[in-house]
Amino acid sequence: MERITIRHIEDFDFKLIKTLCELEIENLGNEASVNQWVIPVLIRYGMVYVAEKLPGNEIAGVCQVIRSYNDPSNAFIHSFYIRPGFRGMKIGKLLLKEVINKLRSDDLKKVHLTVDSENISAVALYSFFGFKRSGIRKDEYGRGVNRDLYILTL
Ligand SMILES: CC(C)(COP(=O)(O)OP(=O)(O)OC[C@H]1O[C@@H](n2cnc3c(N)ncnc32)[C@H](O)[C@@H]1OP(=O)(O)O)[C@@H](O)C(=O)NCCC(=O)NCCS
Repeated sequence: MERITIRHIEDFDFKLIKTLCELEIENLGNEASVNQWVIPVLIRYGMVYVAEKLPGNEIAGVCQVIRSYNDPSNAFIHSFYIRPGFRGMKIGKLLLKEVINKLRSDDLKKVHLTVDSENISAVALYSFFGFKRSGIRKDEYGRGVNRDLYILTL
């Protein structure tokens, strides 16, 4: 098992943003990735957590969270991934657990996310933490690109 630490990113430099941009494309593809114009905004106004391998702090996984403007007791996990070479090693569980603990300690009440219904490993991970399928968002990310909505009550 790799030695992994979980870190809330609170400041950044251009090198970190460049790395995160590359990880976005590696893990989510060109279409679903956010870029150097959005990642700093997510760090400053949302919340970005990373799983890092020790020693050396290579990033193994990323979780980006935003808080709802309409209902600040709700958060939305905008993106969650573990790099291919680190999958299946419980790092996703470790990262998501830390994020959920942080949201709970900040007194949030619900966490939303959307996932492709065919993404078996992600659905299994979210279900493990108690997320419940709460509907479908049709054409959410383009025509025919449907997503299942999952909600966790904290
Ligand atoms: C989904 C993802 C984040 C899981 O991360 P991970 O670190 O590999 O997951 P973990 O090793 O912590 O496993 C957590 C649970 O997920 C499920 N899981 C993980 N890999 C799985 C697989 N290949 N098949 C089925 N279930 C799997 C299991 O329930 C597992 O728990 P268990 O091993 O105790 O049974 C990772 O596969 C990933 O980054 N995928 C690509 C990006 C993505 O789809 N992100 C989600 C977008 S909504």
